[in-house]
Amino acid sequence: MTFAFPEGFRWGTATAAYQIEGAATEAGRGPSIWDTFSRMPERVYAGHTGDVACDHYHRYAEDVALMRELGIGTYRFSVSWPRIKPDGTGPANPRGLDFYDRLTDELLAAGIEPMLTLYHWDLPQTLEDRGGWANRDVAHHFADYAITVHKRLGDRIGLWTTLNEPWCSAFLGYAVGVHAPGRSDVSSALAAAHHLLLAHGLATSALRAAGATTVSLTLNLAPVVPADPSDALENDAADRVDAMLNRLFLEPVFKGGYEPYALDMLERRAPGGLVRDGDQELIAQPIDLLGINYYHPCLVTARPGTPENPVYPGSDGVDFRPAMGKTTAMGWPIEPWGLTDLLERLHRDYPGVPLIITENGAAFDDVRVDGGVADHDRVAFLEGHLRACHDAISRGVDLRGYLVWSLLDNFEWAEGYRKRFGMVHVDFDTQLRTPKESALWYSKVIARNGL
Ligand code: FCB
Repeated sequence: MTFAFPEGFRWGTATAAYQIEGAATEAGRGPSIWDTFSRMPERVYAGHTGDVACDHYHRYAEDVALMRELGIGTYRFSVSWPRIKPDGTGPANPRGLDFYDRLTDELLAAGIEPMLTLYHWDLPQTLEDRGGWANRDVAHHFADYAITVHKRLGDRIGLWTTLNEPWCSAFLGYAVGVHAPGRSDVSSALAAAHHLLLAHGLATSALRAAGATTVSLTLNLAPVVPADPSDALENDAADRVDAMLNRLFLEPVFKGGYEPYALDMLERRAPGGLVRDGDQELIAQPIDLLGINYYHPCLVTARPGTPENPVYPGSDGVDFRPAMGKTTAMGWPIEPWGLTDLLERLHRDYPGVPLIITENGAAFDDVRVDGGVADHDRVAFLEGHLRACHDAISRGVDLRGYLVWSLLDNFEWAEGYRKRFGMVHVDFDTQLRTPKESALWYSKVIARNGL
């Protein structure tokens, strides 16, 4: 074997509630912003919704059995806030909790370690009606919800993640509206970013007080690469994007506060008084693990006169370069070296923080062969990125695991069901699951603990 991974390295896969569960109105679940958004005209491809999705709510036992057969060690899933608290606040809906209770027991019985994410983008609609993440109160409601879930599952779940990709929630949801709730207002997006971080801090300290031992946060991070690294203007362009994509979240969590640049942005462009005394201390709660979702690097170049891209406030004069080489079905460049770079940078800039890849994977148009799915592109993608992880580990990075996005083809947000990220093919008419070649390949990687 050429690439052996450290003993105890976690091999797993990830999903999210709205993308797979379906059962949108069952057992007292309230509506989330994605139920609303997917019903707005022309927001989601072909009007797709998560109403049924992979019907995982009813088929979870089958899905867990499939994971066991593949040898999956860790399963990262998310809890739907509106199943637990249909209105976002107030008493828990026990029937909502029952579902995650059953799922957890099923996983443990199959010898699979559960990793629970509390927020993967499905905010209760009633909270959006009260201002959503732009409203500070939502951060406190989130911490209450976190405790409700921990009370029921804390005896069996060791790995807790507060938020998935707060950058996406804030900027894709509130600055450009390509994700729920579909608002286009930079000022609300900056407020949302701060309140998400606050929610993370409040939930982390509440979970810790309740006895949780491993609390993590998952960020979507990417190296921001200038066209000409020897040019000062180019570097400045890359730095301003990096400040909003990466450091806006990393610095307050690991360095005790926002950088002056980010703080200035929050103070000038968001409603007054956003960052209050004590907020930065709350956000800086120590965490035990940083989850990284890596898909591709961000390629930029300086082009004076280019208007700001609202998802990166302060990015005027920055142009976003298209991919040069091969891309996935999402049009995303395939650049595994970006993952090594990113891991080494995190290791260097935020030392002492154990890392885990909580998502990495790719959508491709599947090729069906004799009833099976020959997804060679996906195998090559995963293999390349695992080598990139291995490189980073051999250079001293403390990487604890790798989770493939995703177990199943699922509801890919604004792309609906047309982009398939699964290692397991889902026929959405019959709900038949068929492991693709990548699943069988990954199963062998797990068994060998390496490539
Ligand atoms: C990430 C999301 C995940 C999935 C992948 C492709 O940004 O966290 O839900 O959609 O992208």
